[in-house]
Amino acid sequence: MITDKEIKISFKEYGKLDEMEILDRELALEAINAMKGSYSPYSHFHVGAAVRLSDGTIVRGANQENAAFPSGTYAERSTMFAAGAQYPDKDMVSIAVAGGLDGVLSDHPATPCGACRQVMAQYQTKAGKPMSVIMVGKDKIWKFSRVDDILPLIFDQI
Ligand code: THU
Repeated sequence: MITDKEIKISFKEYGKLDEMEILDRELALEAINAMKGSYSPYSHFHVGAAVRLSDGTIVRGANQENAAFPSGTYAERSTMFAAGAQYPDKDMVSIAVAGGLDGVLSDHPATPCGACRQVMAQYQTKAGKPMSVIMVGKDKIWKFSRVDDILPLIFDQI
């Protein structure tokens, strides 16, 4: 039997940071601040991320590039791996991402790459509850209330 199926994605768009709930706004600002930690001599694209843990702790990170290109790390994964390593017993409840050329926040929201989304998805599974994803831009901010909305049908069969 053939069945047509659909997956619905929903998210909120904010025109400015002030419109966001206080905790989300705080995390978005932390991500913007974290862009300062970027080491990006090759792409000049500075990305910052901030993860909020279940106890309110915020962990920040930024992309770190290397002359051996694949050795570099992305902001989101650097941050989640640092949070996972330092606070293995705490759930990640939210992640915010911001980026821009030469450290200037882009107009468009920072949209994480697929590999970083897969890592978010697995930490969400580990937590057993939704992890929200906030993509920060100068002109608009997007909030997805769960990782499934930016990466449906994740690989999690092993
Ligand atoms: N980058 C991130 O850190 N996160 C993303 O989601 C996209 C790209 C970094 C990797 C590299 O240092 C630079 O941005 C350009 O791709």
